[in-house]
Amino acid sequence: MKTIQNIVILTGAGVSAESGIDTFRDAGGLWEQHRVEDVATPEAFARDPDLVLRFYDERRAAIQTREPNAAHRALARLDAEWPGELLIVTQNVDDLHERAGAKRLIHMHGEHLNAWCTICDARMPWAGALLDRPACPACQAAGSLRPDIVWFGEMPYRMDEIYHALNRADLFVSIGTSGAVYPAAGFVREARASGARTLELNMEPSEGSHWFDEARQGPATVLVPAWVVAMLGG
Ligand code: APR
Repeated sequence: MKTIQNIVILTGAGVSAESGIDTFRDAGGLWEQHRVEDVATPEAFARDPDLVLRFYDERRAAIQTREPNAAHRALARLDAEWPGELLIVTQNVDDLHERAGAKRLIHMHGEHLNAWCTICDARMPWAGALLDRPACPACQAAGSLRPDIVWFGEMPYRMDEIYHALNRADLFVSIGTSGAVYPAAGFVREARASGARTLELNMEPSEGSHWFDEARQGPATVLVPAWVVAMLGG
């Protein structure tokens, strides 16, 4: 078998589930009777900005009370110790990977703890609420800040870097994602086409499980540390 040097890891909501952060498609994907997709679009924000800002304010506050779990810590250890190229691409907008110590990390769907000014285009760390329409600290515009989150219909961040890494990967590992949302759901095929081995670690087979060379089922806090120990040679 080809020696593994370059690794790309895709993570989704399942990696943070055991830290107490709800996944999207468990629990019916509902928030106060709204479909999550209906509050995560530019159209929803234009139609009812208070609803969308309140949804994100609640989640931004909640993640600050959560802690990284054993899966985040194991991936941070792999990042620190893996001598080859490694990239963690997360669909998650929480900050648990970086709080666990991960460095080679891309938030392709944005970050809860950032705000984005739609007037001056500045992005800035933001831990508080946006519902009360604070002025942009960069340009002082009022009511111009939105969550720095990639909504449905918007372009995920840093796709060039992600595809570059996928095309160089010897191993692609998908952890805790349902494989329901593109472009991330297509990464396994991109990596395969470039000759990578592919592994899925998820609570249940995802929608794209059949694309992987191997799929293991179980909680991320069990599967990920065991896989990392094996990768680092015990
Ligand atoms: N360990 C491993 N996997 C888990 C765990 C766990 N403890 N708990 C849940 N899972 C799995 C579920 O079985 C499911 O397949 O994690 C997956 C979570 O899927 P989703 O809720 O669909 O989350 P995700 O794939 O990250 O969603 C992708 O959709 O709503 C958009 O932009 C949002 O980034 C998000 C994207």
